[in-house]
Amino acid sequence: MTKVNQKLWGGRFEAGLEKWVEEFGASISFDQKMAEFDIKGSIAHVTMLGQTGIISQEEATQIKVGLEELLAEYQAGDLEFDVSNEDIHMNVESLLTAKIGSVAGKLHTARSRNDQVATDMHLYLKAKLIEVIEKLHHLRSTLVDLAEEHIETIMPGYTHLQHAQPISFGHHLMAYYNMFTRDSERFSFNIEHTDISPLGAAALAGTTFPIDRDLTAELMGFAKPYSNSLDAVSDRDFILEFLANSSILMMHMSRICEEIINWCSNEFQFVSLSDTFSTGSSIMPQKKNPDMAELIRGKAGRVYGNLFGLLTVMKSLPLAYNKDLQEDKEGMFDTAETITVAIDILAGMLKTMTVNKEHMAASTEKDFSNATELADYLANKGIPFREAHEIVGKMVLECTKAGCFLQDVPLARYQEVSDLIEEDIYLTLQSKTAVERRNSLGGTGFSQVLWQIKEAKKDL
Ligand code: ARG
Repeated sequence: MTKVNQKLWGGRFEAGLEKWVEEFGASISFDQKMAEFDIKGSIAHVTMLGQTGIISQEEATQIKVGLEELLAEYQAGDLEFDVSNEDIHMNVESLLTAKIGSVAGKLHTARSRNDQVATDMHLYLKAKLIEVIEKLHHLRSTLVDLAEEHIETIMPGYTHLQHAQPISFGHHLMAYYNMFTRDSERFSFNIEHTDISPLGAAALAGTTFPIDRDLTAELMGFAKPYSNSLDAVSDRDFILEFLANSSILMMHMSRICEEIINWCSNEFQFVSLSDTFSTGSSIMPQKKNPDMAELIRGKAGRVYGNLFGLLTVMKSLPLAYNKDLQEDKEGMFDTAETITVAIDILAGMLKTMTVNKEHMAASTEKDFSNATELADYLANKGIPFREAHEIVGKMVLECTKAGCFLQDVPLARYQEVSDLIEEDIYLTLQSKTAVERRNSLGGTGFSQVLWQIKEAKKDL
């Protein structure tokens, strides 16, 4: 290495050259997050080396005891890593050598850092995926509980951010429940591609030693070993899937956060966030800001960035291992840490917010979101829907000019428009009636929302 450096930059970087290059190439500052998994992977590997007789049982035990001690020291926060040992794999090996002497050198038999690093990543991500699914389960239950409380809470449903038709707030929440359920399913499928052991692929081609890959896979809790050694060391699809799934999740979270931000504005006043999830302004004493919702919305950007970062790293990369692959880690860690906390924050925010039911419902009283009701009413009485649409459109225009709403129009005027309109029109025009009656499958009708909630509860 010294030679190469001298050859490339020798004259110019004489002082400090080694340190620069070393630091540029090192990953220990971030891959130490995988320390536990690295040590556990090594314990599985050495157990296998002992059982297959590739090294003696005595040597295997010595190494295993040393590794277990290192694990305990790591968990106690007593391990110190050194950048001159480049990455977590060589740091662990060097700490092991310091502890048990030269027998530590047998640990790396029939193994390469290439299969080792891939193994660590699979172990790390599998654990994270399980954690993410659990957190999503909590978020989904929070949504279902809230929806159940608000089956009959009426709110304006929007298209183009314009009042469209009144809906149940519970129905609105259940739409998000469905998104997070699909997210959860995607993460579950992601586990299948992560639950595979690369260990034993060695550098790229497998090994001449009589290793037992099924055994190491089993010891580490993986479903099976990779069936192709080149694929094993160069596959990062499982991470890309995680980043893509996380991006979709963040997109969903950014949508509900955007709505929450709107809902707590002066214009909406549909919800107010708990003080424990809001912040103030350093200059404007009256402010209570939905910072956490805004941050989740903003963090969608970094999660998308991590996906694009790794897609770009992987593009055109020839088989098998290339040092480019070291760039797979920080985005994965960052995404995992971002989404796990964001899910909890969102659940906490939803759990503690106050829903201003009356205000929500009232905002459907002074609008034309019942126009479809009048059109459907006429269509039900035999007028072709297109004609009914035209009639109601004209009525809306008339009301707009007169400064009133459909429910304010006197019956006499309605009967001039169509003698099919009777007194019951006023009940039909009420938001609650409009919601209650939308009982087509998956509609916002109370019975449909209740059905969704029951199905969700079965699922949870
Ligand atoms: N730190 C490296 C990484 O994260 C470990 C694998 C190194 N392998 C190698 N052939 N240089 O990718």
